[in-house]
Amino acid sequence: MSDGALRKRKNQPESKEHAQKDSNAATAGNKESDIDTAAVRRYIKVLWIPLVLCFGGIFYFNPTTITDLANTWFGLDSDDGLSLTSNVSGDLRYIPDVEKKDAVVEAFKHAWRAYERDAMGADEYHAISKKGTNLTKAGGIGYTVIDSIDTMLIMGLDEDYQRARQWVETKLTFDRDAIFNTFETTIRVLGGLLSAYHLSGNDQLYLDRAIDLADRILPVFDTESGLPWPQVNLAEKKGVPNSDYRLMVSTAEVSTLQLEFRYLSYLTENEEYWEKAEEVMRIIKEARMPHGLASIYMNVETGKFVPSAIRLGSRGDSYYEYLLKQYIQTNYTEPVYKDMYDDAMEAVYSHLVQQSPYSKTIYTAELIPERTRTGELTWRLSPKQDHLVCFFGGSLMLGATITGASIQPVSVPPRKKELTPVGIRDWQTGAALVKTCWDTHDTATGLSPEIVYFRVPEDGMDIDSAPSDWYIKGAQPYAPPPYDARYILRPETVESLFIAFRLTGDVKYREWGWSIFQAIEKHCKVESGGYASVLNVDDVPATWEDKMETFLMSETLKYLYLLFEDASVLSLDEYVFNTEAHPLPIFTPTIRTAFADS
Ligand SMILES: *[C@@H]1O[C@H](CO)[C@@H](O)[C@H](O)[C@H]1NC(C)=O
Ligand SMILES: *[C@@H]1O[C@H](CO)[C@@H](O)[C@H](O)[C@H]1NC(C)=O
Ligand SMILES: *[C@@H]1O[C@H](CO)[C@@H](O)[C@H](O)[C@H]1NC(C)=O
Repeated sequence: MSDGALRKRKNQPESKEHAQKDSNAATAGNKESDIDTAAVRRYIKVLWIPLVLCFGGIFYFNPTTITDLANTWFGLDSDDGLSLTSNVSGDLRYIPDVEKKDAVVEAFKHAWRAYERDAMGADEYHAISKKGTNLTKAGGIGYTVIDSIDTMLIMGLDEDYQRARQWVETKLTFDRDAIFNTFETTIRVLGGLLSAYHLSGNDQLYLDRAIDLADRILPVFDTESGLPWPQVNLAEKKGVPNSDYRLMVSTAEVSTLQLEFRYLSYLTENEEYWEKAEEVMRIIKEARMPHGLASIYMNVETGKFVPSAIRLGSRGDSYYEYLLKQYIQTNYTEPVYKDMYDDAMEAVYSHLVQQSPYSKTIYTAELIPERTRTGELTWRLSPKQDHLVCFFGGSLMLGATITGASIQPVSVPPRKKELTPVGIRDWQTGAALVKTCWDTHDTATGLSPEIVYFRVPEDGMDIDSAPSDWYIKGAQPYAPPPYDARYILRPETVESLFIAFRLTGDVKYREWGWSIFQAIEKHCKVESGGYASVLNVDDVPATWEDKMETFLMSETLKYLYLLFEDASVLSLDEYVFNTEAHPLPIFTPTIRTAFADS
């Protein structure tokens, strides 16, 4: 046997975060500190022991509250909205809704053609001022163009696609002497190129560009631990530390490069991409904290977690997402990712999944590290849920049909007997979380806020101030809206609706998605072209912020389109979507992948 076949790699968990996507959320919006700076200093000195000792405090409070989760079977054995699929062979779910699908295509054209008219080639677009801007002074890296290309291919917009391709062929360069975010560049640009390569029928242009970009990013992994630097100078091909906290990297950021680097490795047979990305997972696995929870920051030198918030929202989110998706991407050949996913889910259930007091809404909370007067580290449960967490409902349902299935493939929707007890738990909780996210669209605009809080006994909120048990913190009539009140065209709820619909055939998910789409059309659409973010989801007419995030075209409109599309298009059996909604084909790797049980 070859060395490669026998080689065992160390397992290492990965963390990923929507760093830039969330940078504002983490700083401007949220008075709670993500990081216990005193703890960080102490941690760096005394290393890991204090955290391990204090971590026990977590287990003292908030045991899981979901045990009394409604006994309803979400998705089957229930008459609730399921008549469509419960008595047919399943074919009915394949029927596209042409009218709604076309409406989403029109919205995409409204966004793309305004960008093309005013700002072609710029990284970001501002529809109200009709201007483009670049991430750095060194010039654009195709952030918006490349993020949008696969959506054009999926929607069949051939002419727009040809012009975008032309731009990539003649204008795009990554030889930019400036600092870019490793994670964002990977998920949006590398991910976009890889998806474009596959969906265009292997157009070599995209693979060449992907290799060029990946080779510029690769040096970020040359650190003491093997965790990547959070930033990269693409011209110098050099990793760059975080400017504020030099040694800190976000868990979600380092663990959300793997699908992209692994698929590129598969395409090129260059194992280096694979090994660098996989080493990150080994480090994370080895750094495992008691009971499998993952803090949102790690130390790039030691490869250990740093005392910091624990959550499924910003800087935590896609760590959990990619644990499951790595297992799916490689056609279930890497059981270590299933183990890590199962482990992480147990921890999430034990400590983060909560139920609100009155409406019994299921949501996920956060754990915030705090110091007592004597300097002891304790953890406070904060009933805060980012919109970003809304990926998690669909992700749990998807996981239920894979890691939680007793047969393969399961029915649509799965039958109870096809799932393990863990699968049933994840299915029910996932469906409940999708519903929760849908419920947070009950605002004046029909759009959901960036961050919601759920009512707890200590917060002084009552039924009148939070009739559905959730509220926007700091929102007051006639006062400037808090940061949390905005909707910036985020995709996470419609992403979960798309997955939930594919797995159940339940038309209510299409209805909810259509309602969200209409709210976007009504409140975010700029007449002269493009879309804008809304500053307060409870304010009509809406006040805008002049920014059209690239994920509108790469994610939000793509997931909405696919929600109404024939279910055989980009089937979940054949594709895994990266965290920026770029579909990558599932493959059976030739490299032996799983690292050793450690
Ligand atoms: C499903 O049920 C509806 C009414 O309940 C009935 O009209 C239809 O024929 C059924 N379809 C199948 C395939 O059994
Ligand atoms: C952004 O970069 C592109 C190069 O890709 C350049 O053509 C354009 O002028 C830049 N835009 C701004 C506003 O600097
Ligand atoms: C995944 O593995 C199964 C066998 O376990 C195989 O039949 C199938 O073709 C594989 N799929 C891909 C895309 O490689």
